[in-house]
Amino acid sequence: MIVNARRGYPDEVSRPRGGLGPEWWREGVLYQVYPRSYQDSNGDGIGDLRGITQRLDHLAGRDDSLGIDGIWISPFFPSPMADFGYDVADYTDVDPRFGTLADFDELLAQAHARGIRIIVDLVPNHTSDQHPWFAESRSSRTNPKRDWYVWADPKPDGSPPNAWRSVFNRVKKEAWTFDATTGQYYLHPFLPQQPDLNWWNPEVRKAFEGILRFWLDRGADGFRIDVAHKTVKPRDIGAGLFGENPRGTRDFTPPADEPELHALLRTWRKLLNEYDDRMTVGECVVLDPDRLVDFYGADNDELHLAFNFHFLRAPWGAQSFRDRTETFERVIPNGAWPDYTLSNHDNPRAVSRYAGGDISRGRRRGRLAAMMLLTLRGTPFIYYGEEIGMADAPIPAKRIVDVAGRDPERTPMQWDASPAAGFTTGDPWLPVNPETATINVEAQRRDPSSMFSLYRRLIAERRASPALRRGSYRTLPAPNDVFAYARELDGERRVVLLNFADRAVPVPIAKLGIPPDGLRIDASTEPPGGHERIGKTIELAPDEGVLLDLDGS
Ligand code: NOJ
Ligand code: CA
Repeated sequence: MIVNARRGYPDEVSRPRGGLGPEWWREGVLYQVYPRSYQDSNGDGIGDLRGITQRLDHLAGRDDSLGIDGIWISPFFPSPMADFGYDVADYTDVDPRFGTLADFDELLAQAHARGIRIIVDLVPNHTSDQHPWFAESRSSRTNPKRDWYVWADPKPDGSPPNAWRSVFNRVKKEAWTFDATTGQYYLHPFLPQQPDLNWWNPEVRKAFEGILRFWLDRGADGFRIDVAHKTVKPRDIGAGLFGENPRGTRDFTPPADEPELHALLRTWRKLLNEYDDRMTVGECVVLDPDRLVDFYGADNDELHLAFNFHFLRAPWGAQSFRDRTETFERVIPNGAWPDYTLSNHDNPRAVSRYAGGDISRGRRRGRLAAMMLLTLRGTPFIYYGEEIGMADAPIPAKRIVDVAGRDPERTPMQWDASPAAGFTTGDPWLPVNPETATINVEAQRRDPSSMFSLYRRLIAERRASPALRRGSYRTLPAPNDVFAYARELDGERRVVLLNFADRAVPVPIAKLGIPPDGLRIDASTEPPGGHERIGKTIELAPDEGVLLDLDGS
C-alpha cells in the first residue's frame, strides 16, 4: 500500500507566485505554445524548452507582457516525430531536440515565478510504434504486452477487421495495419506509426497513472489530453474479435461514446484531486454540443474543461457566433465551465480563415474575434502568434513536412523583422512567414494600435474585472449584424457590442435594454483616440467591437 505523500506541492516543487488562485484555469487566460516553433535556443532551427524560458517575459511577469496565466505546451517527449511529437516513444522524458528534464524543471520554476502555470500534453490514445511497449507487443502473440495494444485477426478474406478509417487518409486509408510476424492487424486511427493502446487493459491504466503522477509530482499544473474522446474503444475490438463496427459502417473511426471512457476520466479526476489546483483540458472532437459536455461528467467529475472547437468552424457572422455561444451556455452542466478558442496547431489560423482572400480584412476581423474571445464567459485559449495576428504562411511544396499539411499554421513565431524572425540563428525547420518584416512582436509592442496592444489591453480588462472573469452571460437584443451581450457580477455590469458587418452600424441604446446613463466605452477594437459616439445610439464602425462599462465607474 502506497502512502499518499503527494497531497499539495511537495516542498521541492515550485508553486506559482503572483498568479491566480485555485480557480486559475477558469479565471485565467491560457496560451498554446507549439514548442518546435516558439524559440530556438541553440541554433539547430528547432524550438526548444530553453527557448520558451527565454521568452516568458513576453507572456507574463512584466508591465508590458501579454498577461496570460498558463501555457499548454504541445508534446516535447522523445519521439520519432512522425506526427511531430504526437507519437510518443517515452512519456517521462524530454526529446533531446527539445532539451532535458532539467530544462523542463527550469522552465517550470521560471514560469511559476511569473505566475504562469504549465499544462503538459498527454497523448494516451496511442504511442509511437517505436515505444518499447509496442516493440514488445508486436514481438509475439504471447508477449505480456501483446494486449496493451488493439490487435485483431483479419477477416476470412484477409482484409482488415472492420471498416474504420484513418484520420490521416492521405497517408493510409485503413485504420489497421497488418503485422506479418504475428499475423494480426493493429489499430491506428492516425498514422501506422501511432498504434492505439488498449485501454481495457488494467496495466495500461496503471502505467498512465504513473505518468500522470510523474508530471504532477514535478509540479506540472495540468494536462491537455490528446484525443480524450476516443481512448477507450468498444470492447469487442479490444478483445480481438473481428465484428463490424457495432454502429455500422457509417462510423469511419472508433465511436466516442464508450461509457468506460467516462469511467476512465473519472479515475483521472480523482487522481488530480489528490493534488492542489491541477486541471485537465480534453481534446474532444465531438460536434454535437450535448455530447461534448458529457465529458465534464454528470457530477463535474471528469474533465475540468473540454475543448470547444465550435468557433473554429463558425462562418463569419453575428448570428453564427451568437448561436454557438448560446448553445454552449445552454447545454453546459451546472458548475461546469465553458471555454473558447479561435485557432490551434491543427487548423488554419484565425486571421487567415476570416480573410476571404484579403488578409487585412482577416486582421480587422481578428481584432473583433479577440474581443469576443476575451470577454465571453469561459476560459480563452490563445494560439501562439494569434496575439500579433500571425497568418498562415505560404509553404513551398518541397518544404511541406506534416502528414496532413498543417505546416502553414505551425511556422516560427515572428519576434522581429529579421529574416529568421528572431526565432533562430540557424535555418528554421519550417519557412518563416515573409510577413515578419511587418508583422512581429517587436514592432507591435511599440504600437498602441497593434493587435498585440489590443490583446494586452483586453487581457488586462479581463483580469481587472470580476464580471468578465467569472460573471454571468446574457445575450442582449441588437441589430442583426451585431452580437451583443452583458457580463454581470455583484452589481458590476459590462456590455460587449460586436459588429460583424463590414459597414457602420448604429446600435440604439433603447433596444439593448440597458440604462442609458453612465455608459462609457472602455475598450474598442478600433485604434485608440476614437471619437465620442454615445448619444441615443452607439455608432459602431465596420468590424468594430466595443466593451462598455455600465456604471461609469
Ligand atoms: C490531435 C492533435 O492535436 C494532432 O496534432 C495529432 O495529429 C492528433 N491528435 C493525433 O495525436
Ligand atoms: Ca533548438
